Amino acid sequence: MKPCFSHSLLIYHSDFKIYERILSKKLPGLKIQSATRSKEALDFVKEAEIILAWQIPDELLKQAKQLKWFSSIGAGNEDLVKNPYLSETVLLTKATVYGEMMAEYVFGYLLYFTRNIAKHMKDQRKRVWDQVRPTRLRGKVLGILGLGSVGKEIAKRGKQFGMKVLGVKRVTEPVENVGQVFGPGDLRNMIPMVDYLVNVLPFTPETYHILGERELSLMKEGAFLFSIGRGKTIDGKALKKVLQTKKIQAVLDVFEKEPLPSKSKLWGLRNVIITPHISGINLPEEICEEFVRNFERWARGKPLANLVDRKKGY
Ligand code: OXD
Repeated sequence: MKPCFSHSLLIYHSDFKIYERILSKKLPGLKIQSATRSKEALDFVKEAEIILAWQIPDELLKQAKQLKWFSSIGAGNEDLVKNPYLSETVLLTKATVYGEMMAEYVFGYLLYFTRNIAKHMKDQRKRVWDQVRPTRLRGKVLGILGLGSVGKEIAKRGKQFGMKVLGVKRVTEPVENVGQVFGPGDLRNMIPMVDYLVNVLPFTPETYHILGERELSLMKEGAFLFSIGRGKTIDGKALKKVLQTKKIQAVLDVFEKEPLPSKSKLWGLRNVIITPHISGINLPEEICEEFVRNFERWARGKPLANLVDRKKGY
């Protein structure tokens, strides 16, 4: 790519040095300044046309008078979408690099359970030879709530494992690798059919607590819930209640309140696995690769990819 001195980019992130190192090599000539604290960026933000960041203090955003494009490092951008200091005229793009990683997370745990990994590790320590039968993923029903960039990667792997893949999407159009797509109104019809319910819905006013006690109670005895999108899409109180009946099991990576408070009862439930919002973690190489592809479009005057629809909220 030719030098592009006419554009200036502010990188605002705790790993800013890594991002700057990668991008200054890939986009030589792009005027880059990076920062991890407001005061380091207060001057430069006034001239920045592009910001690459996840969360950014309002005091910086208020000063970003030349801003044309906010390239978010996040997949879900519910806070940016309603930030009054991010003008409607500024293009907002999301990162779509998390799907493969989050699918690895889901299938990591699915195989952990179906192949009895914890039991065999325990048996090994006790020198016990116990051939319990594994269960198969083939033929099991995988229900995915949210069929965006993440849900599609999960569906693809589900299909490869021979699972029956169902999904819920705002608009019920056919989606590759998904046998049946339900609209949000049919959520309660789909839930009782699934063995594994994976929730990757974005957080919007429509998805707030979309899984409440009624929906969670519709899950099959022994079914698994994966919550890896946004905690607020599940009613936390109802979730605790349903999990305490031990009817279902859950792998939870996101919560209504993060970090999950140490006094939360969820920590102690034996049918729950808790991870600290790590199913999709930003890897600077991958984020930068996607940013560079989009920057090249931008520099050529082409429409940006992965635009956030502010009305829909994702
Ligand atoms: C994201 C997240 O949306 O980290 O990117 O949850």
